[in-house]
This record gives sequence, structure tokens and C-alpha cells, in this order.
Amino acid sequence: MTETKTYKVADIKLASEGRKKIEWAESRMPVLMNIRNTYEKTKPFKGYKIAGCLHVTKETAVLVETFKACGADVVWSGCNPLSTQDEIAAALAANGISIFAWHGMDVKAFYWCIDKCLEVNPNLTLDDGADLIFTAHNKYKELCAKIVGGTEETTTGVHRLRAMAKDGKLSYPVIAVNDAETKWDFDNVYGTGQSTLDGVLRATSVLLAGKNIVVAGYGHCGKGVAMRAKGMGANVIVTEVKPTAALKATLEGMRVMKMDDAAKVGDIFITATGIKDIITKKHFEKMKDGAIICNTGHYDCEINIPDLESLKKSKRTVRNDNEEYVLKNGNRVYLLAQGRLVNLAAAEGHPSEVMDMSFANQFLSQLRLVNAHKKGTKLENTVHDISNQQDQELASLKLKTMGHSIDTLTKEQIAYASDYSAGT
Ligand code: ADE
Repeated sequence: MTETKTYKVADIKLASEGRKKIEWAESRMPVLMNIRNTYEKTKPFKGYKIAGCLHVTKETAVLVETFKACGADVVWSGCNPLSTQDEIAAALAANGISIFAWHGMDVKAFYWCIDKCLEVNPNLTLDDGADLIFTAHNKYKELCAKIVGGTEETTTGVHRLRAMAKDGKLSYPVIAVNDAETKWDFDNVYGTGQSTLDGVLRATSVLLAGKNIVVAGYGHCGKGVAMRAKGMGANVIVTEVKPTAALKATLEGMRVMKMDDAAKVGDIFITATGIKDIITKKHFEKMKDGAIICNTGHYDCEINIPDLESLKKSKRTVRNDNEEYVLKNGNRVYLLAQGRLVNLAAAEGHPSEVMDMSFANQFLSQLRLVNAHKKGTKLENTVHDISNQQDQELASLKLKTMGHSIDTLTKEQIAYASDYSAGT
């Protein structure tokens, strides 16, 4: 461990390895780099301190260094004990970023890192999963009054913050980055779809074709996973609680059944629900010998690990991020990444190309908070959405960087679209 007053990372000597990966990500994040080029001249974040709690990956590093280039002071922690990439944390620390993050920390250290970020009195927060905001509200109440605003990256975090706002408990405005179309319709679907299978493959190296892959949850993330698993030749089974989502899954060619039934036939189980206790004791007991289980939801509560522990005869690590449980009934089940986000713990998270848009939304949302503060028009203490205009502008920029052109409506076509006198 390398520790100074301003950082604590696993090993600062990993910095040059991390730097090469950050440069690789920069080359695949043209929208965010374009934003960096635009705003580094005027430095709109000068005088603002951003505390971030978000997976420490090469893509996050591009975001952090964009904030820095645009004038911000940044202090950072990871938002999951297993998702920090140590070489990236080292590269950020070596570049003068205040960062407290290392792979494999325990829960106590996780909150110690968050405390380190809040102790420096930030005036902006950036979350993935809302742990930083919750800690600020529970432990640093006086600080909340001074915070200009925050942003939230993920579905789970946004749900909880909306509930908090509804109960009048939110002490500063938060922008729901997750709910931008250029975030959820790309990062959650294509990002989760690819990176989750990447994590499963790195931890197991099994053939996906011909396997029964059970995907719990058919929201945006589950849909992405199911779609990609199907494309790899798996027989995909979806479990759901929402009738319309289940119906969509059937019409998209997935089999739909209850987890009680899927437990008996699944070869690989992937939870993507955001809800706890999706796979519990009664399911482990029914599973086939050799079943593989993992989670891609934000928290590690979807697979009931205490239940799995209670059924075990023995346990050993068979590969990185892959633990074999021999159950009392003699069957073996394999738990990946300790039930934490398999795409970030066993792989590298979503590819840079989708994070490009998610993090461009993060940057523009933080900028909106700063601009409102500078004008003395602090946003209301609730959860705010991103405008459709921002979505369309980001999508246009992304298309341009990819070399695609699209049509525009003529004046006559625009008039026609809202002409209620026109018919057959
Ligand atoms: N969440 C999912 N993938 C990610 C990535 N590559 N970087 C940061 N957060 C992520």
C-alpha cells in the first residue's frame, strides 16, 4: 500500500502501466475529449472542489482528468470494494489527484475512503450508487448546506435519491445522469451486455454457446445481457416480476419462467435486478452440479451469499474471481466475484466508447450545477433530469465522431408533423 496525505493506493509504482491504459481510453472517448478541449481554455470549475465516488477505471480517469483540466480540484474514492483498478488509481495519484482507492478493500476501508473525500469540504459530489451522498447526509450535515449539488450515475442510486427527495430529505440538488437517454439506452444496455459476459468469460473461460443462461431482470441491463448471451448462442431464460418486461422478453425470443423453475435448468445465472434475494437457499439447493452464479447489479445483495455459505461443505478458489462451493448435497456451484458486479470485479467495466457518453453527461451536469451557482440560481433540492436537448447534442456529436451523417427535417416536414388538419 502507498499512502500520503493526499492519496492511498495499492502501489504507486503501477502508475506508468495505468497511464498507458488511460491514454488508450482517451483515444476511444472523443466526445469527452472534445468537451475537455472546449472548456480547458475557460476553466469553468476553477474554485470548485468535486468529491467523486465512482469505479476507478481508465474511463473514470479520463473524466477525472477532464475536470482537473477544466479547473476543478478533485478528490476521489471507488464506489465498490472490488472495482478499483490499482494501476489507474496509481496513475491518478501520480498526476496529483487526491484519490483513496484500492482493489479488495473491506467495507470499513470503503467508508474510510468516502470520509477522506468529504473531510476536504467539497462543494460538488459525483456518485455511482449514492454512498457518498448518503454519507454526507448522515454524517456531514453542515457540509450538505454548503454543497452546490451532486450527480448520480446509476439506476439504483437514482431510485433511492428520488425516494429521499419525495420524503423531503434531500439537502441539495442532484442531477440524474442515469436517466439521460444517451446514458441508460447505451451504457446500461450495450455496456452491461458486453462487460458482463466479458467478466463471466474472464472468470470461467467456458463456452457460452448451447448453455442455459438465466438472466434475472429484464430492465435495460438485463436486456443487454440477454441480447448478447443470445448472440453468443446461449439459450436465454429470463426471470421477471414485471409483466410488461416479461412479455417483451418472450417476444424477443427469450424463455420466461420463475426462478424456482430456472434454478433447476440453468448453467449460468446472472442477476441484474437491483433487488435483494433473487437467488436464495431454495434455488441453490435445486441447481445442477457445476452451475455458475454471478451478479451485475450495483449491490452484492442479489445473490444471498449467507444462504450459500450455510449450505457449503467446503469452499476453494479455483481461478481468479471464481470460488467453488461444494454443497452438502454433493453438487458444486461456482460464485464469481463474490457476488459483486462481475463486469467490474472480474473484467474492466463497460467499454470506453459507451462511457464516453455517460461521462460527457456527468461533465455537463456538473457544469450546469456550477453555472446555476455562479448565477445565484441554485437548483431546487430535488432530483433533476437531463434535458432532451443535451441528449440530442451529445448523440449528434457521438455520431459525428463515428463518421455517420443523418438527415434533417425540412420546414414543410416540421409543419406537417403537427398539422392536425392533414389526414388520408
Ligand atoms: N460502470 C460500468 N463500467 C464502467 C467503467 N468502465 N468505468 C466507470 N464506471 C463504470
